[in-house]
Amino acid sequence: MVLSRAQAAELDRRDDLAGLRARFVLPDGLLYLDGNSLGALPVGVAERVAHVVEHEWGRRLIRSWNEAEWFTAHRRVAAALAPLLGAGADEVAVADSTSVNLFKLLVAAVRLRPGRPVLVVERGAFPTDVYLARSVAELTGGELRLIDSPAELPAALDERVAVVGLSEVDFRTGARWDAAATTAAIHAVGALALWDLSHSTGALDVDLTGWDADLAVGCGYKYLNGGPGAPAYCFVAARHADAVLTPLPGWHGHAEPFAMSPDYVPAPGVGRLAAGTPPVLSLLALEQALEVLAGVPRAALEAKAHRLTSLFVELVDAHCPELAVVSPREPAARGSQVSLRHELAYPLIRALAQRQVIGDFRTPDIARFGFPPAYTRFVDVWDAVRLIRATLDADEHRDPRLAVRETVT
Ligand SMILES: Cc1ncc(COP(=O)(O)O)c(C=O)c1O
Repeated sequence: MVLSRAQAAELDRRDDLAGLRARFVLPDGLLYLDGNSLGALPVGVAERVAHVVEHEWGRRLIRSWNEAEWFTAHRRVAAALAPLLGAGADEVAVADSTSVNLFKLLVAAVRLRPGRPVLVVERGAFPTDVYLARSVAELTGGELRLIDSPAELPAALDERVAVVGLSEVDFRTGARWDAAATTAAIHAVGALALWDLSHSTGALDVDLTGWDADLAVGCGYKYLNGGPGAPAYCFVAARHADAVLTPLPGWHGHAEPFAMSPDYVPAPGVGRLAAGTPPVLSLLALEQALEVLAGVPRAALEAKAHRLTSLFVELVDAHCPELAVVSPREPAARGSQVSLRHELAYPLIRALAQRQVIGDFRTPDIARFGFPPAYTRFVDVWDAVRLIRATLDADEHRDPRLAVRETVT
């Protein structure tokens, strides 16, 4: 049964998370379905950043490293993030970008499994994951094993594998691994499981402890709403925390940074994964942003993600049959996104933007829509599909000017 708009509005009235939307600055009339790429601005972040710039930096200057606790801010942010990962605060580090964290943890994983030269990743993973795994294989004299689908993983697992790095949710299709079962299969051959949670944390019921995961990384600017270029995070299970060795042993990861010793002594636990001075403005923006999700149960976020994406799939099937749903149809088998295939996907996304519906395009032919459960309404889903239909009916996606690619798609 396909819902009416009034029925979608009723779903919003009954939504326990509906109140979270007021904690975001969302332009009137905009249907923002791209929070899986860049999360919306939470209320309070602009004020916090202004205070940090004007007061803490502008007036208090260098004294703020101590007075405003800039130096230890990354530990506070890690503690705020840990519940969204199903992890302990002492298992999470906030630093650098996801790419840099992948490098650090892939090297650390190979060092934790001496005599095992192989790294396994998906060929279709987010490209940075593949590039970095290849680089780590080259730098460590190892070997990269690429798989093309989940079905190929069992055959790729043997006693030569040090680490398997997988994105829980595929950035392109939204397909989701069964992380607990997959981690168990990886462990069965003695290898380590590294999860890229960029498209999961803040939208799904991530449970690194329950999965028995070894390592993880993820972005701070998607469903965590930390802002463009927000610091990323790493997870190291407590059982490995004092054994991991970072290939980027910078002074912020030293046990005593201000001893200014020429000899590197790693800080205890995950603190050693810090390298250099963090981007304090971005770090404190992320800290403020995380207040929105404080205390929100991960399972409630995931339950709403299932319902939002299911509604979108149902409406697209009913009203836009020329768009093929490529995301899995089983809600638990996908992230909080739905990808649609169309040969004119790029100009379609740009035509929709002209109608204030923001999604994004992933090459070669995917129109991708994200549904952050913290601020997406059921009526937004309904309105978006109505506007997609209207755009197609008006042939706006056939405008050749919209086919010219912009720098960022
Ligand atoms: C799954 C995944 N991994 C890694 C990255 C790269 O993150 P960063 O640019 O912070 O290195 C992205 C960026 O979108 C991503 O989607």
